[in-house]
Amino acid sequence: MRNLYNLKSLSLDDILSILKRASEFKAGAVADFSGKIIANLFFEPSTRTQNSFIMAEKKLHMQDINLNPVVSSLQKGESLYDTVKTFAAIGVDAVVIRATENEYYKQFENKLQIPLINGGDGSGDHPTQSLLDLMTIQEEFGVFLGKKCLIVGDISHSRVANTNIEIMKRLGMEVYLAAPSVFQNQNYSYVDFDEVIGDMDVVMLLRVQHERHAEKYHTTSERYLQKYGLSKERNAKMKKDAIIMHPAPFNRGWEIDGDLCEGGKSRIFEQMSNGVFVRMAVLEYCLSGE
Ligand code: CP
Repeated sequence: MRNLYNLKSLSLDDILSILKRASEFKAGAVADFSGKIIANLFFEPSTRTQNSFIMAEKKLHMQDINLNPVVSSLQKGESLYDTVKTFAAIGVDAVVIRATENEYYKQFENKLQIPLINGGDGSGDHPTQSLLDLMTIQEEFGVFLGKKCLIVGDISHSRVANTNIEIMKRLGMEVYLAAPSVFQNQNYSYVDFDEVIGDMDVVMLLRVQHERHAEKYHTTSERYLQKYGLSKERNAKMKKDAIIMHPAPFNRGWEIDGDLCEGGKSRIFEQMSNGVFVRMAVLEYCLSGE
């Protein structure tokens, strides 16, 4: 068995082979994991990640159990640790977990005999999101080396940015960041959105993550879009073959003009479709691995 905590702990060979397998699944390859039961334990809200894992599990002929935290014994004070251990004890074959705490998975090292797949940890990592982002970029351009990606928005609260910055650089991409000063994580340097947009292959917007802000971020959607968002004017400055990405959920009219979400450059819904195939490949990788 193998865990998937983050992409930092995976070799480039492993990452590229997961992407290859995801493409095979998209092209119609099948695998039969009947008899395997997966518990999807989402302690934080999710639409895409949880439901595309469920879809992936069904396509692999697995059965799924989905925790509803609101009617679980978490309400009686049971911890995340004991909840996860309970699912292992009742016999599931793997757990997919999303939780608010960064690196929550560390408490399970050497404590679980089944694979743990990280569906997002706080502002830490979101490995399956990055894999589906990479799949979408690879489908578009065929290569990673030398491709330029601008990630824009609430960088400091974004697990998607964290994971993508590391893996995109490791794959030889050029990664640029733009953000309002209040959302700048000081580990990185930043560029001016308007100065670089015309040179980018990928413009990846991030949601303003109001729920993670310790202090309320005071602005209006119009002001944010005009200063830091992908407006129609900025879209017009993009290269002809450049693409728009967003992990979603998106705030239409904040970080992206609503019409652009379904415009010709947008790959946002393609990212969501690819999420199913990437998660099929990840489930197979974790359950079949040495
Ligand atoms: N991109 C993403 O993780 O979406 P959800 O929060 O809906 O799972």
